[in-house]
Amino acid sequence: MKYRQLGDSDLQISEISLGSWLTYSGGVEREAAEQCVRKAFEVGINFFDTANIYGKGASELFLGEVLKNVPRESYILATKLYFPMTETDSGLSRVQIHKQLNDSLRRLQTDYVDLYQCHRYDENTPLEETMIALTEVVQEGKARYIGFSEWNAEQIKAAIEITGIEKFMSSQPQYSILWREPEAEVFPVCAENGIGQIVWSPLAQGVLTGKYKAGQPIPQDSRAANDLMNVFIDRLLTEPILNAVERLRPIAASENLSLAQFALAWVLRDKRVSSAIIGATRPEQVADNAAASGVRLSPETLTAIDEIIKSVILSAD
Ligand SMILES: NC(=O)c1ccc[n+]([C@@H]2O[C@H](COP(=O)([O-])OP(=O)(O)OC[C@H]3O[C@@H](n4cnc5c(N)ncnc54)[C@H](OP(=O)(O)O)[C@@H]3O)[C@@H](O)[C@H]2O)c1
Repeated sequence: MKYRQLGDSDLQISEISLGSWLTYSGGVEREAAEQCVRKAFEVGINFFDTANIYGKGASELFLGEVLKNVPRESYILATKLYFPMTETDSGLSRVQIHKQLNDSLRRLQTDYVDLYQCHRYDENTPLEETMIALTEVVQEGKARYIGFSEWNAEQIKAAIEITGIEKFMSSQPQYSILWREPEAEVFPVCAENGIGQIVWSPLAQGVLTGKYKAGQPIPQDSRAANDLMNVFIDRLLTEPILNAVERLRPIAASENLSLAQFALAWVLRDKRVSSAIIGATRPEQVADNAAASGVRLSPETLTAIDEIIKSVILSAD
């Protein structure tokens, strides 16, 4: 496993990291989930991403239990807040930042998180209030660094312009061969300001592993077949996308890579990306994905990928 510095922080995070969104909030059986975390340590993954909202605390509770006997300094832990935990608890106000972080730390069974992230931008709270509260939790030692997820360039710049507050070190956007939106504005503004990218759904929820084939039944052991985990995957399961992914298969094979490794190596080709946050339902997937670390794709291969994918790249419009 290779490691990259997260923005201007002193964190060296593994190029492949393990997330816990749909998987460890209840979608994956406990034993398999524990095996995935154990495998992550075995293959050198040191960075784990969660959020208070994943299973309304279930994912943090799981990680707290499974990590409690692991030396705290041997892994890097990130969580987030923003989405509603109750009808009256949501957003990025000062009260919520203190309250939600305390709740997260209790569930995670730790005194601090390495990274505390704003899961989205809060239009209803003054940005200054959010930034001051984030600075307070860093000063209290409850969070080492702060970050955001899915903020646009204007919102990021506005935060950077506030003086006397803690600097953001990380950005967590969706990014994959199929979803390239943050390249245009978010990546450049972050790079200029020492903010690293930790990208989510780098395998497009499994679609880029080639497990789904146009005109064929959905594999029974996949996310798309699992009613606890298939709520967001439909848009990716179109015939043109699946056919394009199938055309990547021989190129990946010619590089001796699985399609998953190929897709992750594509994300990691960009040095502005500090880590690709994968999901995994089985330890074998963790091992397969971890082997993408350090793989370099040639310029010819990158051009071939673009040619195949260009007509199916997704956008927010
Ligand atoms: N900030 C945000 O708003 C946000 C949003 C979404 C996610 N995230 C973060 O990003 C993390 C990853 O998201 P994601 O789970 O969508 O990521 P992903 O890596 O794109 O997809 C993960 C899924 O793909 C399948 N898979 C993974 N590796 C495989 C392999 N080698 N071979 C075959 N199938 C494989 C597994 O599903 P099956 O085995 O079930 O098919 C796995 O659960 C989340 O856990 C979370 O931490 C953040």
